Amino acid sequence: MHGAAPLREETEQLKKVQIMDIPPTAKKVKYSFVYRNLFAYRLILNILFLGRYKQRFKKVIVLLDPKQEKKVIELCFGDIYIAQWCQKQGLDYIGFDINPHFISVAKKKGYCVNLADLRDQTPIPAGDVAIMMGSLYHFHDILGELVDKVMASCTRFIISEPIKNWASRDDVFGRIARNSANAGQGEEFFRFNEHSLIEALEKISRGRYNISHTISGKEAIVDICRK
Ligand SMILES: C[S@@+](CC[C@H](N)C(=O)[O-])C[C@H]1O[C@@H](n2cnc3c(N)ncnc32)[C@H](O)[C@@H]1O
Repeated sequence: MHGAAPLREETEQLKKVQIMDIPPTAKKVKYSFVYRNLFAYRLILNILFLGRYKQRFKKVIVLLDPKQEKKVIELCFGDIYIAQWCQKQGLDYIGFDINPHFISVAKKKGYCVNLADLRDQTPIPAGDVAIMMGSLYHFHDILGELVDKVMASCTRFIISEPIKNWASRDDVFGRIARNSANAGQGEEFFRFNEHSLIEALEKISRGRYNISHTISGKEAIVDICRK
């Protein structure tokens, strides 16, 4: 775990670093409708989750121990529910996302967030716990690299990942999901199911991490800890 003073210092430093304008190139990127603002994102995700969108965050929050885990890193945060909860608990929070609209909302609310493409060499700061929700499929081809990078900086990595693929459904939900799959890097068709997700994570762990998971509705919640 990390001492409170260095933590505060590091957070302050990162806050200074991330006060940058959204690059003009990012403004030209084409996103699915859902990625153009947080309101649209929540609306569409609430339809896909049949009104249970916010509960997804609660299922991850109950796994956190605010007495032990004082510094939370959220990757691909998108929404600000985890940041809000961390603030209420007095925890340090640093979020990363590639989407300038989501970054802008979070910054306006005063959260420490960084515009970054996590597929590149972006360093992940030291933390007690890293969280990634609904986003692992964006990294399916570099899964080992990503998990090792996160586990080198954080003691624990909690992943919440959809394992039922809406996009393959031949109905209105399927159409919405298919039209919502461009986070700025083109359409993405890859999705995990329970088997492929756990098999891939076990394979890259090679006995170095403890991996446990539960299934809750359409999602797997995976808890990865250093051995
Ligand atoms: C389906 S949304 C999930 C958002 C939120 N975590 C949730 O569960 O509602 C995927 C998120 O990943 C972000 N994202 C996708 N590719 C990324 C990348 N290469 N680097 C950083 N963020 C990325 C998107 O901008 C978006 O916020």
